[in-house]
Amino acid sequence: MTMKGSKMNLSFGSEIIYEDAEFLINDHDKAGIVGVNGAGKTTLFHVLMHELELDSGTISTGNSRIACLPQEIVIHDETCTVLDYLQEGRPIRRLEADLSRIYQRLEHAAVTEHASLLKQMDKLQTRLEFFDCYKADSILLDIIDRMQIDIDLLDMPVNRLSGGQKSKIAFARVLYSKADILLLDEPTNHLDAAAKEFVTEFLKNYRGMGLSATIPPSSIRLFTKSCSSIKLRTKFLSTTAITILIKRSMQRSSVCVNGFSSRRKKR
Ligand SMILES: Nc1ncnc2c1ncn2[C@@H]1O[C@H](COP(=O)(O)OP(=O)(O)O)[C@@H](O)[C@H]1O
Ligand SMILES: [Mg+2]
Repeated sequence: MTMKGSKMNLSFGSEIIYEDAEFLINDHDKAGIVGVNGAGKTTLFHVLMHELELDSGTISTGNSRIACLPQEIVIHDETCTVLDYLQEGRPIRRLEADLSRIYQRLEHAAVTEHASLLKQMDKLQTRLEFFDCYKADSILLDIIDRMQIDIDLLDMPVNRLSGGQKSKIAFARVLYSKADILLLDEPTNHLDAAAKEFVTEFLKNYRGMGLSATIPPSSIRLFTKSCSSIKLRTKFLSTTAITILIKRSMQRSSVCVNGFSSRRKKR
């Protein structure tokens, strides 16, 4: 599994954001993008989530499941409880509902349909096992505990939470999701020291791929501690704006790889 951008070009009006930019992130890599405000970090996440199209070039994330912690948290159904919102981080309920529908169909199905239904059941079972359906609740509770989310919040509707609390539960849900790729946009803004330590360890050991954005120096420490080997070639743009991937073993001084510099205006 790789996440790849090739010959990416994007402008907003006269403002060039990416010019022939490219990157390659491999399985298990943890990459960081560091850049000043307006450098184009969040925009890259929009492109990766297919919320925004490039002017030209390609981006590929394969069939990977992506979980994104956006810079601005938007929770679509704010009337659901915090616990429901967190549990929906893994599609366990939907898979279980699909499975029970197939059980019901199997009762009345013609013999000729059995093989196909059993195959579908098998697929759903495998998916449920992937999401640790039998111990998912305890995994989630551990994350809740270690992110220091007050247990009293769990029964509350999301719309009763403060902005900071919403950010924290959105972060917990992303960590719980077991996605192939985690995209974290300035993730440490609302975390206290203990939760930051937990997140740093969690990301370091994460089996999937991770890409985080930050403005230095707000979460540079999380990056240098949790980012592992990276192979990223960026030609994003010219002079000091975004860039970089961090190799865990690298010293901070050598963190920039083919660094950017500030953006150019089209003439
Ligand atoms: N939809 C948009 N339309 C026009 N300009 C945009 C749009 N989205 C972002 N920009 C501009 O692109 C630049 C990069 O934005 P962004 O990716 O949010 O930066 P960062 O996350 O690095 O702070 C900024 O100058 C921003 O104003
Ligand atoms: Mg941003």
